[in-house]
Parts: sequence; C-alpha cells; structure tokens
Amino acid sequence: MYRLAPSILAADFTKLGQEIQATEENGAEYLHLDVMDGAFVPSISFGMPLISSIRKVSGQIFDVHMMVEEPGRYVEAMKEAGADLICVHQEACAHLDRTITQIKELGLKAGVALNPATPISLLDCVLEQVDMVLIMSVNPGFGGQKFIPYTLEKVRRLRQTLNERYLSTDIQVDGGVTLANSEALLDAGANILVAGSAIFRGDPGENTREFMKQFSEYEAKTK
Ligand code: DX5
Ligand code: ZN
Repeated sequence: MYRLAPSILAADFTKLGQEIQATEENGAEYLHLDVMDGAFVPSISFGMPLISSIRKVSGQIFDVHMMVEEPGRYVEAMKEAGADLICVHQEACAHLDRTITQIKELGLKAGVALNPATPISLLDCVLEQVDMVLIMSVNPGFGGQKFIPYTLEKVRRLRQTLNERYLSTDIQVDGGVTLANSEALLDAGANILVAGSAIFRGDPGENTREFMKQFSEYEAKTK
C-alpha cells in the first residue's frame, strides 16, 4: 500500500485549512509538516501553534519532519500539538538512540531522516527500532528543489537491507517528488512519498487524485 504525504510548506497559508482538506478528501493519508529552526537548515518555517491549529481540521497522520538541532527538546510539545509521527535527522542528534526512545515512549511513531550525502549504514544499529526511514532527495531547507538522482540508489539499497533483516519499515522519500519520478521511487522500494510543490502548486485536490491514481495503477501492475 503506497501513501502520499503532502507537504504544506508549498501551500497557500491564507487558505491552509481548505487546501489540507482537499488533500485528505482525495486520499492523502499523511500530512507532512516541515519544521525548520534556522540552525540545522538555513530557513525557518513554523512550529507548534500552527500544527495544533490545523489538527482541528484534519484527521490525517501528522508526520512532523524535524529539521531542527537536537529535536529531542521538542518531542513532548509536538505530541501535544498533535503529531502522530516524529521524524528526526540522524545528523541533528548527538544521541540518536535516546531521541528515538523518547519518541516511542510517548506512544508516537519514530522516523529517522538522512540527508542526501549521509550513508544508510549510519542507521545500522537502530533499524529495528524505527517505524520509518526518510531518505532526503534534496538538501533539506526549502521546497521546490530538483530531485537528486543518486538518492534513488539509496532507497533501493535500504529496501534490500530491510528485507534481509525481515523488516517492513516504511521508506519515505522527500524532495523534488513529481508524478514523473514517483514510479521509479516506488520501484526502488519507497512506500510513502512526500510532495510539496507537486501538490500545492495548482489544485491540491486534483493533484492528490493524480498521485492516488498513479499509486493504484502501479499497485495493479505489480500485484
Ligand atoms: C525540504 C522539505 C520538503 C519540501 C518538499 O526541506 O523537507 O518536505 O517541502 O517540497 P517539494 O516537494 O516542493 O520538493
Ligand atoms: Zn520534509
């Protein structure tokens, strides 16, 4: 089962509620929330107040992508705000095991993200503990960037490693995802695709439907 996680970073914030609902009504089960601190990444986006406010209009799985140094400082507040899944960067945690444990002890799903240049081998020790691995396919910090092709091979190798260890961990890909490259990503072993510009530039409902159609066609083809 393939899932879509629209990233609201590219949404029109003056009609955020409506745009989110358009994605939910058309089949997007996740909502990807990019939190940036201006330290781990150059930009600053939004935080808890916005997340708790949109929690009221959406029943989607709130997938919080923490582009923040030492995100362990905020996991409780993120849970309060409505997070279902918290994804932290390997590069931002001095004590990754502790941060993952903190998230799981709160009853939330835990994900770990890797920048394009970070090898997947750095997750060797924690693969059994995480619910999701996020392979970044752009350098984090901004929406609307171009997909970095070598990350596709990372997805393929990660799926292979997970299979060898009998794990069915989710693999999410984030950055420059479009209808044109999504089939290759599913083929490589990703099962949750994040899309910002591809969903919110234009009609979010219609764009979501296009992705869902592609997912079901791919599913039918590979069954
Ligand atoms: C980038 C963010 C992404 C971004 C994706 O740092 O983590 O989630 O919003 O946007 P697109 O799909 O436009 O590349
Ligand atoms: Zn993201």
